[in-house]
This record gives sequence, C-alpha cells and structure tokens, in this order.
Amino acid sequence: MKRVAVLISGRGSNLQALLDAKQDAYEIALVVSNNPEAAGLTLARDAGVEAIAIDHRIYGKDREAFERDVDALLIQRNIQLVALAGFMRVLTPYFVRAWKSRLVNIHPSLLPKYPGTKTHQRALKAGDAEHGCTVHVVVDEVDSGEILGQARLAIEPGDTPETLAARVLELEHQLYPRCLAELARKL
Ligand code: GRF
Repeated sequence: MKRVAVLISGRGSNLQALLDAKQDAYEIALVVSNNPEAAGLTLARDAGVEAIAIDHRIYGKDREAFERDVDALLIQRNIQLVALAGFMRVLTPYFVRAWKSRLVNIHPSLLPKYPGTKTHQRALKAGDAEHGCTVHVVVDEVDSGEILGQARLAIEPGDTPETLAARVLELEHQLYPRCLAELARKL
C-alpha cells in the first residue's frame, strides 16, 4: 500500500472518490488544503483521515515558502505519492521537482485540449463532438506531463457547461482511483 497525500482547495468530490475506491494499491494517508474552509477537509476527517489546512495567504507572495511547509509535512508523514484534486495553486518547479514522477493531477478536459480553466465552456464553443477528463503526471508546464489515463463522453445537443461538467465529474470519479492505483502499483 502506497501512502498517498491528496492536495485540495474545495469541495473534494474527487477526494471522496479516491477514499471510497475499493483497491489495495494505495491508502489516503493525509489530506492538505491551502484553503482552511475547504469542504474536503471535513470529508477526509469523516473518513478517519488526517486533514490539515496550510493557508497559503500567510505566506504572501512567497510560493516556495508555502510549498516548503507542505513538502516538510508530506515527508514527515512518510507520503510516497501526491494527488492533486481540485488544488487551485500553481506549483513552482521547486515542488514539482521534489515530487517528480510521484505527483499527479486530474483535469476536466481531454488534454492536450483545453489546459487551464473553463474547459467545458471551451469544448462546447468549439463544437467538439466529445469531451472528458485526463489524469496526468505534473510537470512544470501547467496541465501537461505524461497522460496516465483519459475518460471520454459524447457532447449531447442541449448540453450546457453545467450539464457537461456534471457528467465529466462522474467520469473523473471513476478514472482517478483507477489511474492512481495503477501508478501506485508501478512505483
Ligand atoms: C474537478 O473538476 C477537477 O478535474 C478539477 O477541479 C475539480 C475539483 O472538484 N481539477 P472536486 O473538488 O474534486 O469536487
């Protein structure tokens, strides 16, 4: 069992999916949020998982200082693999290198299409026939890095960014535990 830390900023539905997935490759050993109000912190504690807020605002513009404290906590808790799940801070090369090949993210588009935000809106506007989500290794460039898995769906007539987001989110919840377990087995 690999010890995984999940980094969140908000509601934590992907975190919940990772907690719920029945598999033997990883355990969620720690949840860290940069936002002390994140609902996901409560989800973790309800599941009996240690959940700690490290408020990035305390560090002002010093992103690395924030990341050094997160990194120190991960090391102290013997974390082996880090999963970003709705973590809204762009990480600096310092953290990305420290966790090279052991840091993954889920993104709500079929990368390399639509890195960044408003992915559902952009897929609709482009008239795409399909859309989906991607689990990838984190590298310095945002929403890039080796693709570990994707799940796709057909865009339906009448879809809005909201209906699309809801259907993609269901796919995310299936895809993320599967990809994380596969990576955990390989490490
Ligand atoms: C998900 O859509 C994920 O793909 C993106 O941020 C959202 C997080 O949602 N990176 P949740 O906090 O896991 O519910």
